[in-house]
Amino acid sequence: MHYLPDGARRYEHKPLPYIPPRRGRSRLFWWIIGLALLAIIVLAVVLPVYFTVVKPHQSSSASSGAGSSSGSPTGSGGSGSPGTGAQPAPAFNGAITGGDGSTLTFEDGSTMTYSNAFGGYWYFDPSDPFNDAARAQSWSPALNETWRFGVDTIRGVNLGGWLVPEPFIVPALFEPYQNGSFAPPYNAQDEWTLTNSMNAVGNATALMEAHYATFITEQDFARIASAGLNWVRIPVPFWMIEVYANEPFVPHVSWQYFLKAIQWARKYGLRINMDLHTIPGSQNGWNHSGKLGPINFLFGVMGIANAQRTLAYLRTLTEFVSQPEYKNVVQMFSIVNEAWMPVIGQPELQAFYLEAHDMMRNISGYGEGNGPFISIHDGFAGMQAWYGYLTGSDRIALDTHPYFAFNSPASVAQPSSFVASPCSGWGQELNASMQQFGFSMAGEWAVATNDCGLWVNGVGLGNRVEGTYPGSTAVGSCDTFDAWESWDADFKNGLMDLALSSMDALQNWFYWTWKIGNSSISGRIESPFWSYSLGLDNGWIPPDPRAAVGYCAASAGVVMNNPFNGVLSSWQTGGAGAGTIAADQIASYGVWPLTSMNNCSTSPYIAPSDVIRLPQYTETGAIITLSGPTFTTPSTTQTADAGSGWDNAADTVGYYEPIQGCDYPNQWVAVGVPIPTGACGQLSAKKRREAPLAAPTEPPRF
Ligand SMILES: *[C@@H]1O[C@H](CO)[C@@H](O)[C@H](O)[C@H]1NC(C)=O
Ligand SMILES: *[C@@H]1O[C@H](CO)[C@@H](O)[C@H](O)[C@H]1NC(C)=O
Ligand SMILES: *[C@@H]1O[C@H](CO)[C@@H](O)[C@H](O)[C@H]1NC(C)=O
Ligand SMILES: *[C@@H]1O[C@H](CO)[C@@H](O)[C@H](O)[C@H]1NC(C)=O
Ligand SMILES: *[C@@H]1O[C@H](CO)[C@@H](O)[C@H](O)[C@H]1NC(C)=O
Ligand SMILES: *[C@@H]1O[C@H](CO)[C@@H](O)[C@H](O)[C@H]1NC(C)=O
Ligand SMILES: *[C@@H]1O[C@H](CO)[C@@H](O)[C@H](O)[C@H]1NC(C)=O
Ligand SMILES: *[C@@H]1O[C@H](CO)[C@@H](O)[C@H](O)[C@H]1NC(C)=O
Repeated sequence: MHYLPDGARRYEHKPLPYIPPRRGRSRLFWWIIGLALLAIIVLAVVLPVYFTVVKPHQSSSASSGAGSSSGSPTGSGGSGSPGTGAQPAPAFNGAITGGDGSTLTFEDGSTMTYSNAFGGYWYFDPSDPFNDAARAQSWSPALNETWRFGVDTIRGVNLGGWLVPEPFIVPALFEPYQNGSFAPPYNAQDEWTLTNSMNAVGNATALMEAHYATFITEQDFARIASAGLNWVRIPVPFWMIEVYANEPFVPHVSWQYFLKAIQWARKYGLRINMDLHTIPGSQNGWNHSGKLGPINFLFGVMGIANAQRTLAYLRTLTEFVSQPEYKNVVQMFSIVNEAWMPVIGQPELQAFYLEAHDMMRNISGYGEGNGPFISIHDGFAGMQAWYGYLTGSDRIALDTHPYFAFNSPASVAQPSSFVASPCSGWGQELNASMQQFGFSMAGEWAVATNDCGLWVNGVGLGNRVEGTYPGSTAVGSCDTFDAWESWDADFKNGLMDLALSSMDALQNWFYWTWKIGNSSISGRIESPFWSYSLGLDNGWIPPDPRAAVGYCAASAGVVMNNPFNGVLSSWQTGGAGAGTIAADQIASYGVWPLTSMNNCSTSPYIAPSDVIRLPQYTETGAIITLSGPTFTTPSTTQTADAGSGWDNAADTVGYYEPIQGCDYPNQWVAVGVPIPTGACGQLSAKKRREAPLAAPTEPPRF
């Protein structure tokens, strides 16, 4: 989620027409819908006959659990137990797959009944842990089947606040290190100050790991599939890979949890959009970028060096997720979350994204099935600012984050005026972008209509209910909006209406976010709008998101305009023509490293003639690879081949590292500081890609 610095200019979505709330969408309505769906699904559940090719279970007799001679699936009958005569292996109940009603066995040995009314089935075979047979719902392709971008609908949630904690999502993690005034050492307001505070009183590594281990668990992945969702967007920090000496972040530990996420997603048939949420130096200055403060990515004296370091991390992550063991699960990579374009500048971002695209496709190979879709955020300039960018590129998605809460102030004091429809505004924007850019989606959105909520209130300019905002005064109190335990049916129906119209309009979407944790002070959730699971449990998020299909067209007063005919061009999905960016396009999107920097009013201007003097890193360091998971069971140690971590053996150029003899300024506080002299700039850096990469391992598949 983005917060807007006071006074920041922001692209604002067109005001949306007021649509009166539909009344009477009662619990009974949802029961009827639910029962009807259930009836359809009971008839439609047909598990594919894939058991014949499944490797025999490690426990010789237990193979009958899933591969019984009749070939009938264990899961559909609701039984997770092995077939007659089978002896379950000690670590799990013998079943390697199951559908609705089957028994799930978790890492700690605990069990839960899998509930999936949508024909989805889980799959995990300890002797074949990279098998991609699982399917989230009958209408979502199994992981080993092709996801058809633009045809299949992404209905996803973010796992915000997990590997990149944010105060408003996990207040209990921050509250012990705050006293309300953000004065050191009790001033935890971002991960930088949180880790420092934790280390001042204890062990940040242990404390952060305790959070990773408990905030999101395998149960959440099971519930996400049960909720009719088929993708998760997972914000991750760059410090999964490494930290520099002056950075307090806890390195590496989050990677172990991202590996768990991959295995859990695989088990339930969920696809992952891996979202690099923090960038060295900060790409937006907000607290969820790691450090509240100035922007030092593509901007300021360390702007190029920080971007080079970012390329190194994109490289390591791309090398990992492009491996055959992971590419079916991690099918999208959002490479820079919410870069603040008003400061960084669009030409600068365009040059960087072009470089990242070329680097990533050199690693993965070109064409559908080779490495993840690359997602770029619109920089808050609206999607139209990117129309025509990199025609002929290979699988770039455009990501927008439409939020009501931070747009212009509205009168939202009463629940009855709570309903607004995104259909006319967002529906058209997404459709036009599908046509003019290519695959387009909303990587974040929420039913929050205002900024009420603990540590949300007051962060932006717009829709403020409590307190004042420029040019206006408070319209009321946040009490009603925070007291979700006492929301009445009208209020919830209003939110449900907003949820359904947003889902329909955005078409391919990821809600922000799956879960909001309790405050440790009040013992309750204080930002209820932002929690998908809370809405699911309490009646303002649909139990079946397909209920949104056609919602806009059925709503009175919605302006429909259908420029998108539902079919993306072949190059836009990695088919014929992908990877053929015309020379004039390449020329118009700048050269890398940058030759000019944005002239932003908040910074001393860095003239083009000085850009070559800005400090850089050099590609002489030891490559950092990430290792895959290891699998063990109490009875047997299984070591499946988890891959080397490096998909393309021909990618051997050195890793970015500081140039010997360069006196770099602090990479987080480098706006307006003097440019260091000596061996620092482009002329000192070892020439990039001295040894040109060999041809991609896999040839383009056109
Ligand atoms: C998916 O995996 C299952 C089980 O291994 C197999 O039977 C099926 O053929 C696979 N589908 C594809 C499209 O590869
Ligand atoms: C927070 O701590 C600072 C520094 O110790 C102190 O000056 C301030 O009064 C404290 N604020 C509250 C609300 O306790
Ligand atoms: C997060 O950052 C915003 C400013 O962007 C600030 O208003 C908010 O209080 C911060 N949250 C915390 C817990 O510090
Ligand atoms: C902090 O905790 C980690 C993980 O529990 C442990 O490996 C490390 O030794 C601890 N550090 C100190 C200084 O106790
Ligand atoms: C991609 O590979 C081509 C061919 O080897 C090379 O010329 C180009 O510099 C590479 N681009 C990047 C960004 O690595
Ligand atoms: C949050 O608090 C509520 C009570 O307000 C409690 O029922 C719930 O279990 C708590 N959740 C967690 C994750 O501790
Ligand atoms: C967007 O395009 C889809 C597919 O062509 C169409 O069904 C839908 O009505 C369009 N939405 C709007 C708001 O124009
Ligand atoms: C930078 O932008 C400002 C505002 O547009 C302008 O006045 C100034 O001349 C520009 N500086 C340079 C060196 O281009």
